[in-house]
Amino acid sequence: MELFRTNAEINKWRDERWREGKTIGFVPTMGFLHRGHLALMEEAMRRSEQVVVSIFVNPTQFSPGEDLEQYPRDLDRDLKLCHELGVHVVFAPAVEEMYPPGFQTRVEVQHLTQHLCGLYRSDFFSGVTLVVTKLFCLVRPHLAFFGEKDFQQLVVVRRLSKDLNLGVEVIAHPTVRESDGLAMSSRNTYLSEEERRSALSLSLSLLEARKMVAEGELRADVLVQRAEMMIEAEPHTRIQYLQVVDEETMTDLTAVTPAAVMAMAVFVGQARLIDNMRLWPDSS
Ligand code: PAF
Repeated sequence: MELFRTNAEINKWRDERWREGKTIGFVPTMGFLHRGHLALMEEAMRRSEQVVVSIFVNPTQFSPGEDLEQYPRDLDRDLKLCHELGVHVVFAPAVEEMYPPGFQTRVEVQHLTQHLCGLYRSDFFSGVTLVVTKLFCLVRPHLAFFGEKDFQQLVVVRRLSKDLNLGVEVIAHPTVRESDGLAMSSRNTYLSEEERRSALSLSLSLLEARKMVAEGELRADVLVQRAEMMIEAEPHTRIQYLQVVDEETMTDLTAVTPAAVMAMAVFVGQARLIDNMRLWPDSS
């Protein structure tokens, strides 16, 4: 496995692989890898000849007051995990390599980012689309792998790749959960034991909504109310948003359709957790 720190190194490697006609699979991450990331890497290994993982805590997607400084980091452990999985390249640039002095470009996906997380994290999506565009230009992957836990991010990045003709096929991977249902996230490390128990209410309320839909309840407001009740009944929780939206447009639905997703962001203690599920019976 090779570790690259500079754009020059990744450019050279990529040009060689393109000359050889190899399929490049790419898994962008902010490090502190968990089983969710490993599942993306395994999928990338299955579907591509060469796999690149980037590890970069991207400052432009954090707003002032968010957890940029606190965000957990452990490069040595991450490198070991990538090596064990057989990843070919880890790209872990310094902030100055990605954003050198004089940097002033923005990349914006307009409408999809005006919902859900976009309403509460003012810099998040412009930071994500900027860094993902840069990483796609550097790595020039054929395939890129994103988790469905960040389902709005996935839809936004898919739009970005299409709109800018970046030529990257964006592949979704189902959310990976702990055995009790908690969605894997690097931010779960912020949770105390008691908060960890409260955090279970996110996935439990989503499962309850799915069950209600299977039993015939299609009114979004009724499903939202029930989910809110379950989450608010737990200590240390504060709901930021909880909505039933269309998975293509991110807009609110009043009644459940086959494209309906229940999506939420909930503070549990200091940790802001997100989760979502499709509601239609038999949807994965
Ligand atoms: O999902 C993440 O970890 C990040 O938002 C990403 C896609 C690596 C961009 O920094």
